Amino acid sequence: MKFFIDTANLEDIRRANKLGVLSGVTTNPSLVAKEGVPFHERLKEITDEVSGSVSAEVISEDADGMIKEAKELAQIAPNITVKIPMTLEGLKAVKALTQLGIKTNVTLIFNANQALLAARSGATYVSPFLGRLDDIGHTGMTLVKTIADIFDRHNIETEIIAASIRHPLHVTEAALSGAHIATVPYNVLEQLVKHPLTDQGIEKFLQDWNEMK
Ligand code: E4P
Repeated sequence: MKFFIDTANLEDIRRANKLGVLSGVTTNPSLVAKEGVPFHERLKEITDEVSGSVSAEVISEDADGMIKEAKELAQIAPNITVKIPMTLEGLKAVKALTQLGIKTNVTLIFNANQALLAARSGATYVSPFLGRLDDIGHTGMTLVKTIADIFDRHNIETEIIAASIRHPLHVTEAALSGAHIATVPYNVLEQLVKHPLTDQGIEKFLQDWNEMK
């Protein structure tokens, strides 16, 4: 399983990129709005920083509008992936964009049929939102596993991005459940690194080393 970072914050992206684990970035309108910067300019900055897929979401609700926005976004850099919401209009847009060779990430996936349809319309990625399912008392991870089983059984090449990740256990379980990618906020990435026994171990090694000296 690969790691994407789920943010539009340039500092977080730079910090994550320095770790050598970053394969891409996902953004959404809420994340971009939080930054208070012009959307296209920020995308250019992100694509200058990261060579992997950078997902940028459309805000139109009709296929024609989505396609128009997607074409503009795709002009920013060759590694832009256009994020399209899972609707009937969204599927139409995915089909057209696939024919144009523009990569798509179908977002706001909450059941397996949505993922299967998105894949069949040509989506490069599907993004099931685990945390938001957990929030309403469902088990988000079951969805990732179901989608992975279906894609595997039918030789579907669309990649699964485990999204709306809230904590380290989500990451481990997403990897076990067959997600190709986990898109994580920077704070979760940091949490993945930390273990109290690692810290204690470093402290003890340094203590012993200094005593020897
Ligand atoms: C993924 O592409 C989305 O941007 C994101 O994971 C949504 O996460 P949230 O449910 O924490 O907003």
